[in-house]
Amino acid sequence: MDSSTYGRDIALAFVGGFLAAVAILLAGGITVLRNSDAYGLGHWKLNAKMPLATMWMNLGYWTNADGERVQVFEEACSNLLREILSLAGLLGVEPTADDGTSSRSLAVLDVGFGCGDQTLELVRLTQPRGWSDFRYVGLTMNQDQVYSASRRIYSELAASYHLPAESFTLLCANAAVPRAWKPRVSQAVESLAKGGFTDRWFLALDCLYHFSPSRKPILEYAARILGANFMAFDLILNESASLRDTLTMRAVGMMMGCPMKTFLTEEQYREQLVECGYDAESIVIRDITEHVFPGVVKFLDDQERALSQYGISLGGYKLAGRLFDWFGRSKVVKASIVVARNKGSDKW
Ligand SMILES: *[C@@H]1O[C@H](CO)[C@@H](O)[C@H](O)[C@H]1NC(C)=O
Repeated sequence: MDSSTYGRDIALAFVGGFLAAVAILLAGGITVLRNSDAYGLGHWKLNAKMPLATMWMNLGYWTNADGERVQVFEEACSNLLREILSLAGLLGVEPTADDGTSSRSLAVLDVGFGCGDQTLELVRLTQPRGWSDFRYVGLTMNQDQVYSASRRIYSELAASYHLPAESFTLLCANAAVPRAWKPRVSQAVESLAKGGFTDRWFLALDCLYHFSPSRKPILEYAARILGANFMAFDLILNESASLRDTLTMRAVGMMMGCPMKTFLTEEQYREQLVECGYDAESIVIRDITEHVFPGVVKFLDDQERALSQYGISLGGYKLAGRLFDWFGRSKVVKASIVVARNKGSDKW
């Protein structure tokens, strides 16, 4: 084959490939356009107001201040944070000095902080004017959450609370394994122990049961390196649950990607906290099961019904709903708020 036939073959192959690509694109385009139901409900996507106003994710506390059942997800999620802060004594801290300044300053390490709602709500609820200084470090395993939360925090907080952007550091890191943190993560977290903050807290809202190999490394780190107190929402194994329920619960935990022994009884939980450097006398564990599971189950059912009218399914959250229903009925785990003071702390 001489070089000119060779060149012609390449040109033909090129033109042929190009025509084939055009044909495939055309066929694909026609199929997509034919199948998109212009007269159905598929255009909900065009009507949903973006960006979404909130992106909360926790089990929620479904009773309001008047003792009524909450119907709205974001309200339940923010209530759960409020209940934790309330038990920790951090709600509505007022300036203490006569000139309106405060002698107290707040530093928070928040693990599994989500998409920004929790951070924003934490600032709103703890009233920054009650503190002379405020510093927040959030860790998450998900880079998209860092981006999403950063966007919201810097636009909303800086504007409404006049807090400098440096008050917030959001990073992607595995909070369960402090010794594997990159230097910039360690430095950011350790900054909470510097600067003389009077009130230092480690917050874990609805995520600790995922921590692998266990809760211990971060609990110990927070107590001993940060000198922080501990506040959390967690699931605690009912010590009187039947063996069958307990084993089923362990299997469910493993399906959720949790370590095998992640669910602890209240006694084991207290022992672990003491072992990690928290004061035994200070530990408060509040069972809030009745305010959590029935509410979230009802909400998931309602949401599934509402979405199905637009042809959308809740997907995996449907199974989660059935699991939460079983948790609530069998009482195999107790939805609980845990607060514990650092052994070195004299503030309680
Ligand atoms: C623990 O489980 C037992 C047996 O199912 C049940 O009777 C009891 O009410 C549960 N306790 C709590 C605090 O939920």
